[in-house]
This record gives sequence, structure tokens and C-alpha cells, in this order.
Amino acid sequence: MRIVTVEAPGKVNLTLEILGKRPDGYHELRSILMPVSLFETVTVRERADGVVTLRTTGEGVDCSELETLPLERQLAYKAVAAMRRACGRPDGGCDVTVVKRVPIGAGMGGGSADAAGVLCALRALWAPKLPEADYLAAGASVGSDVPALQLGGAVLMEGRGERVRRLLTPADPAPAPFWLVVVHPRFAVSTRAVYEAVDAENFRLTQQEGVWENCARSVLSGDVRAASRSLFNGLQRTVNRLHPSTERFCTALGKDGALSTLLSGSGSAVFGLAESQADAERIRRGLPPEVWSNVVQTLPDGVMAAHGPLVP
Ligand code: C5P
Repeated sequence: MRIVTVEAPGKVNLTLEILGKRPDGYHELRSILMPVSLFETVTVRERADGVVTLRTTGEGVDCSELETLPLERQLAYKAVAAMRRACGRPDGGCDVTVVKRVPIGAGMGGGSADAAGVLCALRALWAPKLPEADYLAAGASVGSDVPALQLGGAVLMEGRGERVRRLLTPADPAPAPFWLVVVHPRFAVSTRAVYEAVDAENFRLTQQEGVWENCARSVLSGDVRAASRSLFNGLQRTVNRLHPSTERFCTALGKDGALSTLLSGSGSAVFGLAESQADAERIRRGLPPEVWSNVVQTLPDGVMAAHGPLVP
């Protein structure tokens, strides 16, 4: 039985604008999503008997709440179901193992990364010729952030999350990454609850004209100071109100020298942009030891790759 392993990165959103509410209950978004160097290791091993299993362990993150979550609600499992449909293999079986390093309920796309890793691995095993559009549609059926992570690198994400475009073309030179300090206050936030709360608020949910384009340009040029002037998250004020500690951590990162700070996705993680890796390490050392924190770099031109199929 063949095995494929994928290192699937988590993400932060450098911008996240909410343009409106859709008839299907989702929100119309415009977001620059950027994978970061914090990886889930997803291994998929074929099985001939059609059974699907999922085993998740944590490395530096607490996975205990996943133990009570039914298999059918876990994004890695949903990704197997989506690939069974997309590849016309209703009885396709596999053992999936996930080593998690992205904190859960942090707005850093950990569950979406698990799904993207499974999709990438099963494409390699079951349907290497699966057209890109079908592959991404399978991801969109699993979760709104999944197609962007399947595509890899810095992505402009629109619609519910299903319309994705890489900011870099293959001809672009690899830009310098940004260094970030990420802080997770060790509680999970429900994305659905945040969006519901946003609907009841009157906060500004979009940037001024042209600001997201400035952010996109700063990604291409690797200019962290320019990027720090265009960070925006329309969910932030709502999450700060629901969970005041997110605002406190942003303030602390700013005092310690972060160029700019932002909530990641729907939270609860926040991040600060640093001038350099050394600066990020220094800022991290000032954080209280009881919070989860990490220094990561952005992956503006990173593409998720399947290692395998290998026959053990
Ligand atoms: O697509 P996903 O399952 O990740 O979304 C989780 C929840 O976040 C949805 O149930 C919805 O309440 C909210 N959401 C939204 N608009 C989006 C993405 C997510 O309202 N574009």
C-alpha cells in the first residue's frame, strides 16, 4: 500500500475585508491570505478495504478537544469524503495521520491545512490528472479557507473563499518573507460565532480604496514596513469586544517593538510584524510564558508538495 506525506502550512490573513452578507448565510470576503512556516504533517496511506481512519496528535499544541469531535466533523475526514466524490472512488479507503503544530481555533487555518494536506495527498494517490478546478472545488466544499491553502503562496481570496488567485506569477522573483511573532492566548474562537456577532455590530468592515492593493504590492516587493501600514481585519473589533485579551496581546506586541499587529482570521491568535528574525525572537522573549507563541516567516511563493507515493 502506497504512502504520501505532505507538509501543510497554516496561515495568517494580512487583510480581511467583509464586503457583505450572501443569501446562503456566508459573507462575501476579500482577503490576502499568506501561509506561514508552521506545518501540519499529513500522512495518507492507502487501504484496500475501503475503511477510512484518522489519527491526530499534537506537537506543542493541545488536541484534546478533537478527541470528542465526531470523525465526520473533522476537516481532514471531510477532505477524504470530498476526494472520494471528486475522483469517482466512493469506496476509496485510507489511514490518515496528522501531526498538528498549528493551534486549534486560532484563526490560523490549522483544520483547513489538514484538509488541504489530505486533498494534496489523495490527488497524488488517486487522481494525479484531476483538473485544478475540480481539485479546488473539492477543497471549497470542505471549508472556506481550504482552496487558498491548496493553491499555496500569497493568495487573494474572494467570494466565500472559493475564488482564489496567487499574487505571484511563476515569472516573479521570490520576494523576501516577513517575520512574524504569533501569539495564541490558549482559548479557541468559533468562526461562525464571530461572523454572527459581526452582523449585529456596526464596525467598519472594509479598508479605504487601494489599501489592499498596497498590501499586495508590499508582499511582492518583500517590504515589511509598507505591509505594516496596510494590515486590516474587519473581524478584529468584534473579537476584541468578545475576547479583550486579544487586544491586550496586540498592545503588548506593539510595545515590544512589532511594526504592526493584527488578529489572525477570526482569532484567537494575533500576530505582530517584525523588522527581522532577530527582532521577532526578541519580541517573543518579552511575552508571558503561559501563552503559546512562535516566530514564523511568511511563505509568499510556497507551494504545498506531496512526498510520494512511496511503497514502504
Ligand atoms: O467555511 P467554513 O466552514 O470554514 O466557515 C465557518 C463559518 O464561518 C461558517 O459557518 C460561517 O458562519 C462563517 N463564514 C462566513 N463567511 C465566509 C466564511 C465563513 O460567514 N466567507
